[in-house]
Amino acid sequence: MKNIYLNVYKSNLANMQKAKKSVENNDVIGIPTETVYGLAGNAYSETSVKKIFKLKKRPRYNPLILHYASLNRLKKDAVINKSFIKLYKSLCPGPITFILNKKAKSKISKIANARKKTIAIRFPKHKVARNLLKILSVPLAAPSANIFSKLSPTSAQDVVDEFNGKIKMILDGGSCKIGLESTILDLTSRPTILRQGSITQKKIEGILKTKVIVKKKVNRIKSPGQLNFHYSPGLPVLMNKVLPSKNGAFITFGKKFKNKKNSFNLSQKGNLKEAANNLYKTMRKIKKLNYKSINVCVIPNIGIGCAINDRLKKASFK
Ligand code: TXA
Ligand code: MG
Repeated sequence: MKNIYLNVYKSNLANMQKAKKSVENNDVIGIPTETVYGLAGNAYSETSVKKIFKLKKRPRYNPLILHYASLNRLKKDAVINKSFIKLYKSLCPGPITFILNKKAKSKISKIANARKKTIAIRFPKHKVARNLLKILSVPLAAPSANIFSKLSPTSAQDVVDEFNGKIKMILDGGSCKIGLESTILDLTSRPTILRQGSITQKKIEGILKTKVIVKKKVNRIKSPGQLNFHYSPGLPVLMNKVLPSKNGAFITFGKKFKNKKNSFNLSQKGNLKEAANNLYKTMRKIKKLNYKSINVCVIPNIGIGCAINDRLKKASFK
């Protein structure tokens, strides 16, 4: 195995400048965020955005999330509304993506948002992502740094495993604090959650003081990316099980499950945040250990547990 770590860079000042140059050259780089790692490029450049779709093997109808350093910069590209301002003030920077109407004069590449009237935007909290966005004069289009429909990466090594050799630079920001993708909230009509995440329906309702809808089956027109077969570890996943199957691994949760050779507890102490953080890591580990299937026990469907179950449901889709 030669040169396997060569394109992983420590996030020091010199390397941040190098990353800036790469983005300005319309190259694509791997960046850490608090949710998952992203495959980032200049959102105003068609060249750069096309590279992202190609690397990810992502269908062109599935729009990308745009990452911003500040509200000021966003104003050029999106139509801001009152609900957005309220949520921005209490949750940003943080793990939430907003769907807003795109401004007619915006320079966002039409390919980035799949020629829709809306754009998905977020303000990442991870200091490496934030610092990079601050020194750039453009927003970053950054989907999760995985091949289309696979598991999102939660460490620089995961990005290496997915794209080694195909991208020149991956900024190392350690292991992602949250480990699941951001909550996606559509604010172009009645507030609707299109993808669940660590910022919950209850939290958003508390801030907006109004009912928030959680879209169960998202139609293609509103959010083409919320396909049923996302987040696949590359082996069969079965939910709500009490035992593993033959030659299979067992993902468990809580203290009633003892640690056995083929069983992987997401959180022995029954903490859903810890479980969310361990979910993708554990599935990747199981895949590397060559198990043939994954059974998963019941995970409580409350708080971030809803996001865990949403990802498991999509991972188990046949
Ligand atoms: O946590 C995250 O959000 C990560 C990090 C890297 O920021 N990014 C991420 O991006 O998960 P991605 O591309 O893997 O997921 C973006 C989702 C897709 O399901 C896409 O369909 C949806 O956002 N999306 C993007 N633009 C949209 C739009 N205008 N309307 C509705 N959905 C949109
Ligand atoms: Mg993704």
